This record gives sequence, structure tokens and C-alpha cells, in this order.
Amino acid sequence: MSNDPKKERDEVTGVETTGHEWDGLKELNNPAPRWWLWVFFVTVIWSIGYWVVYPAWPTMSGHTEGVRGWSSYKKLAAEQQEITARRGVFAEKIQSHSLNEIESDPELYAFAVAGGRTYYKENCAACHGTGAQGGPGYPNLNDDDWIWGGDLEAIYATLKHGVRSGHTQARDSQMPAFGGMLTPAQIGAVTQHVQSLSGKAEPNEEGATIFAQNCASCHGETGHGNRELGAPNLADAIWLYGVDAGRIATQIRSPRHGVMPAWEDRLPDSVIKQLTIYVHALGGGEAEPRE
Ligand code: HEC
Ligand code: HEC
Repeated sequence: MSNDPKKERDEVTGVETTGHEWDGLKELNNPAPRWWLWVFFVTVIWSIGYWVVYPAWPTMSGHTEGVRGWSSYKKLAAEQQEITARRGVFAEKIQSHSLNEIESDPELYAFAVAGGRTYYKENCAACHGTGAQGGPGYPNLNDDDWIWGGDLEAIYATLKHGVRSGHTQARDSQMPAFGGMLTPAQIGAVTQHVQSLSGKAEPNEEGATIFAQNCASCHGETGHGNRELGAPNLADAIWLYGVDAGRIATQIRSPRHGVMPAWEDRLPDSVIKQLTIYVHALGGGEAEPRE
């Protein structure tokens, strides 16, 4: 404000000016509106109240605590405790209900699918892919092609004990290495027969005979596989290792014997159950055990 004793007055409004002028525009010295002053005072009073009640001012050793002792850490801790408690209740329910019961209870089911999705990312995605799409040697878990079975009990057993994991109850079967038993020509013939099962090659009579003698015991006469033995279906379009002749011949000469760890010792049973529900929900789950 100007200290000039003879204050200039604006001609139009008759209001005193502050003496500030910009390109002929003069600032009028109007008092602040009353409502504005009240809002201002209220906010000042509010802030003083806030300083008293909540942590506000920095001090040498931290900050003022506020009479309510509120802190964002305490709030977070309380919220997390509530989440843990809720999870605990659900985990217990998962534990005390059978897989079929979980599946028919919408709330438990939703919890299990969501939990399973998280545990899947942590434990399974490295091998089966983030989208469970699988890859060479690692089965796709979204499709309805199951090596060991796609109903709840079968998936649960696969997860709990693993495949060729060394666990006493593991899914286990070993395709023999035919590299030393069949000649290269015979391997070529049976490879062609395998490809012909899904229409990828012309039939091969010699190959069919070799197949009937050496392979049908596990893969079935028509090559449709056997879940008891974990022998994949060779007559469909889904391949663990690949449909091209080179890969099939390699598998016949020296099978890979894919390994999946047993999860029983690594994850609590309630988590394995959630994973089972999740995998079953991915799209290829079966309602009933099938051959
Ligand atoms: C170290 C790699 C690895 C990890 C980790 C892994 N798997 Fe597997 N999984 C495999 C392999 C390899 C097979 C196929 C074994 C075979 O040849 O039968 C398999 C098979 C399966 C099968 C059987 C599929 C069928 O068609 O019958 C299911 C179900 C499965 N895995 C689920 C899971 C889940 C759920 C997890 C996480 C808890 C997981 N896997 C973690 C390697 C892995
Ligand atoms: C003792 C049972 C057994 C016998 C006998 C057997 N297999 Fe297998 N086969 C399996 C198993 C188990 C797998 C699963 C792959 C693995 O983990 O090695 C498999 C996998 C395969 C695959 C890979 C399938 C894919 O999806 O990529 C081919 C191809 C195959 N077998 C062909 C044959 C042929 C051809 C013969 C006969 C010369 C034969 N198998 C004999 C058990 C057997």
C-alpha cells in the first residue's frame, strides 16, 4: 500500500487506489469481502485444531504426534491385519471344504480362483508361462488336453505329488528310449505313422506295425494316449514337444521324461487347493474323471 498522505481516488468508483499502476490500469484498495474473511478465519482455526489432533509439525526427533496418536503406518497395519484375518478365515474354509464343495460355493470359489491366480504367478508361470499357455515340454493348462487328467482330483494329485519328481506318489512313467532298439529306418517309419495319426503325413504300414508292437501299450492302439501312464494323445493337434518329424524322432530315440516338482512340501495344502481350482477354471477343466 502506498504511504502517500494525499491518496488518489478513482474517478468512477470513488475508491482509494493503492498507487500501483500498470499501463494506465490502477489497483483499487477495496477491502476483502466479508465472506472471504470468514472463510479465511475458519480455515486458520481449523488448521490449529488439526495441528493439535493429528501429527503435523516436524521436530528434531520426528514430528508432533497429535492427541489422537493417528499415523498412516498404524492405519495401514490395521487394514492389513483385517485383510490377513479375512484371508485366514477363507484359508481355513478352503482347508475344511472339499474341492467340489469349494467349487459349488460362489464366495469360496471366487476367493480360491483369485488366490490361485496369485500363487500361479509366483510358482508356476516360470515353466507354464504367465498365461498358462505352456511351451515346448511344458503343457498348456488352458486347453482340454490333459496328460494326467483334468478333473479336480486329478489336477490336485498332479500338483501335490508332481510328475517324475522323486516323490513316492509322483505321477511316474518312463517312455523307453528306442534309439538302441529300433533302426533309424524304423524310427523314420514310426515317426511317419505318428504324424499320420493327426493327418500330417501319409499312412505308413511298417510304421503302423512298429507302433502296434512298441507304442500301443502306452499310447493306445489308435494313439489316443493313456492318462494312467501319462502317455500323451498322439492323434490330436496338441504337442508337448512338437509335431515336426525331427522332434518326434528325437522323442522316440531319447525321451525327455519331463519333470514337475511335487508341491506338497513347498506349499500349504490350502494353497494347493486354490491352485487346483484356478487351473481347473482356466478353461479346460473336466467335471468328471475320464479315461
Ligand atoms: C520346473 C518346471 C515346472 C514348474 C515350476 C511347474 N510345472 Fe507343472 N509341469 C511341468 C512339466 C514338465 C509337466 C509335464 C510333465 C509330463 O511330461 O507329464 C507339468 C505338468 C503339469 C500339469 C499336468 C498337465 C496335464 O496335462 O495333465 C499340471 C496341472 C501342472 N503342471 C500344473 C502346475 C502348477 C499349478 C504349477 C505351480 C504350482 C506348476 N505346474 C509348476 C513343469 C513345471
Ligand atoms: C512306457 C510307456 C510308453 C511307451 C511304450 C511309449 N511311450 Fe511315447 N510317451 C510316453 C510318455 C510318458 C510320454 C510323455 C513325454 C515325456 O515326458 O517323455 C510320451 C511321449 C511321446 C511323444 C511326444 C508327444 C508330444 O505331445 O510331444 C511321442 C511322439 C511319443 N511318445 C511316441 C512314442 C512312440 C512312437 C512309441 C513307440 C516307439 C512310444 N512313444 C512308446 C510313454 C510311452
